[in-house]
Amino acid sequence: MPKIVVNSDLASAEIYLHGAHVTHFQPRGAAPLLFVSKASVFREGKPIRGGIPLVFPWFGPHESHPEAPPHGFARLREWQIESCESRTDDSVRLVLALSSDESTLQQWPHAFSLRLVVLVSNGLDMTLEVKNTTNADFTFEEAMHTYFAVSDVRSITIDGLAGVEYLDRADNGTRKKQGGAAIHIASETDRLYLNTTGRVTIHDPTMRRTIFVEKESSNATVVWNPWIEKARAMADLGDGQWIPMVCVETANARDCAVTLGPGHTHRMTSRIGVAG
Ligand code: BG6
Repeated sequence: MPKIVVNSDLASAEIYLHGAHVTHFQPRGAAPLLFVSKASVFREGKPIRGGIPLVFPWFGPHESHPEAPPHGFARLREWQIESCESRTDDSVRLVLALSSDESTLQQWPHAFSLRLVVLVSNGLDMTLEVKNTTNADFTFEEAMHTYFAVSDVRSITIDGLAGVEYLDRADNGTRKKQGGAAIHIASETDRLYLNTTGRVTIHDPTMRRTIFVEKESSNATVVWNPWIEKARAMADLGDGQWIPMVCVETANARDCAVTLGPGHTHRMTSRIGVAG
């Protein structure tokens, strides 16, 4: 599958046209930030397991069409390269695009155009632009479903979500409130935190690093790890592969879905990197 490979003085990165999917980001002198499953398939019609899948225009299973692809079709389509530019500050800026066509309109009856702007620097900046090209409002969900590489999910802590209300997707979507302490993952975790715009950090004492996730125009954050049983049922995750990963997703979903007027554009940004 075609991919763009970036090697600059600041970082290296790889982006597949399939799904405009970033599978690799590594600042110079640091370990890779992203996890990709050893058992991932790289095939038309299938999402890549790991990296940064783009979720659009619905999050999770489709509400009324269970046969529709989970997390929408954006991660399953081949995107076009709009531009690639190496800049004087050694960063690299890439723009990929995807527009509605007959097949997307069959699954979701709204015309749109998407652009993903990726800036590879010491950190990785990604902006997903959604333009409504119809003459009526539409409502969509979206996420940058980032899989971070960690030493062992059982030994990390996640900060930045204290006191935030969430939908516990591992408990039938029950509404709960996060306590005050840092999050420690010790079982299947699938939480959609609502109305939260702040920075989240993943502290990994074994790797001696803290990863940060900052965002703009994103009001939801998802934290996901499938744990033992769910992972076993996922053919593209592979044995024990739930251990070196955690997803912290920059999202707008459920209560935080976005309604966009005709001709309008919404831009959601996620910025990731190593703190300090
Ligand atoms: C998370 C969802 O964002 O993605 C989980 O909250 C889901 O419920 C996970 O299991 C992985 O989804 P998929 O479709 O890539 O297997």
